[in-house]
This record gives sequence, structure tokens and C-alpha cells, in this order.
Amino acid sequence: MFNLILFGPPGSGKGTQSDKLVDKYGLVHLSTGNLLRAEIANKTPLGMEAKNFIDKGQLVPDEVVIGMIDSSLEHHKDANGFLFDGFPRTLAQAEALDKLLTLKNSEAALVLILDVDEEELIRRLVHRGKTSGRSDDSDENVQRKRQDIYKNDTFPVAAYYQKQKKLVQVDGMGEVNQVFERLSNAIDKKI
Ligand code: AP5
Repeated sequence: MFNLILFGPPGSGKGTQSDKLVDKYGLVHLSTGNLLRAEIANKTPLGMEAKNFIDKGQLVPDEVVIGMIDSSLEHHKDANGFLFDGFPRTLAQAEALDKLLTLKNSEAALVLILDVDEEELIRRLVHRGKTSGRSDDSDENVQRKRQDIYKNDTFPVAAYYQKQKKLVQVDGMGEVNQVFERLSNAIDKKI
């Protein structure tokens, strides 16, 4: 089983690149953002709780997202591997993921962190906000809040994987296909 974590700030291209990477490497895409938006669209109690956090640009509580990942892993028992997109975002989530994968006699093989200038991140999110319909895209203050939360709460998770010698930084600037090629090269070196 090959498990990959795609890491990076909001707007760095995790979702865009995940779609291409899961096709190329036959992985199951687990995006906590997509899972939460599906819960909101279905108006489930979990979705209604999560919406309050997402609309303000805050992180949804750890136990909620860890529970979703646990069920998704169970749901895809025969997967060749997983691509985690937007998870883990806190140290508690990273530790929980290690435990869940250990129970499957597996581990995260590689953590790719997309490096994109902050101005470019905001430019991409403002552009996406014109058509995405995402509540957290429509307000520039919320976008900035999400960047701050990434720096304060999520970026420290990179050091956790650095210690495990699993972290590889990838230049996320430039054309989508150029970034994809850089990510693919980093993965090919590992498999
Ligand atoms: P989530 O959906 O995970 O959002 P995010 O991490 O903020 O990431 P984005 O979707 O904004 O950006 P992305 O990196 O995927 O970039 P994309 O490919 O879309 O999370 C949303 C919210 O849910 C969180 O704020 C939180 O509240 C909650 N949540 C989710 N996971 C959680 C967790 N684990 N714990 C707690 N809470 C959680 O690209 C962005 C735009 O740029 C697109 O328009 C794209 O077309 C464009 N683009 C992409 N690549 C390029 C390129 N190379 N050049 C030009 N444009 C590009």
C-alpha cells in the first residue's frame, strides 16, 4: 500500500493536483474538504456543525475529521493506497493518522508540500471565488484567516514529517502540468 500526503496552504493546488495524481498512481483520493462539503450539501448534522467553522475559515474539530478519515479508510479496505489532501492539518490529526495506518500495517510513505508565494495563493483563491460557490471563498477576510490558520496550526505538522524524513518540498508555482511533473518526479523516486 502506497500512502501519499499532499500538504500545502489553501490555494496551493492540492485539489487540482490530487485529481491528476490519483489517476496516474491508482490511489483513493481522501480530501477532508470535499468530504465536509458533501456533508454540508446533504445537510447532515455533521455538515451543519462543520459549516459554522468552515464559513469563518476556522478548522473543524479534530475528532470530527479524524472520524471521517477512519470511516473512509474502512470503506476502501481493498485500496492500493490513499492520497490524503487537506489532512492532517494539526499534530493531533497527524498522530491519529499514524495510528490508523499502523492498524492497517501501513504508513504514510511520502509527504509532498507545495510551496507557493502568498500573493499567488490569494490571487488563485480570489479567482476561484468568482465561480466556486464555496462559502469560504467569497470573503477575502476569510481567505486571509485560512492562510493565518495554516501558518499557525497546520505548518508545524510539516516538522512532524520532517523528523520522520518523509517531507519533500515541491515548487508549486507555474503551470499546472509543470507542477504535476515535479510532484510525479518526487513520487517516482520513492516508489
Ligand atoms: P479544503 O477544501 O481542504 O481547502 P484548503 O486546504 O483551504 O484548500 P483549497 O481547496 O482552498 O486549495 P487547494 O490547495 O486544494 O487548491 P486548488 O487545487 O483548489 O478545506 C476547506 C475548509 O474545510 C478548511 O478551511 C476547514 O475549515 C475545513 N477542513 C478541511 N480539512 C480539514 C481538516 N483536516 N481539519 C480541520 N478542518 C478541515 O487550487 C486553488 C485555485 O487555484 C483553483 O481555482 C485552481 O484552478 C487554481 N490553480 C491550481 N493550480 C494552479 C496553478 N499551478 N496555476 C494557476 N492556478 C492554479
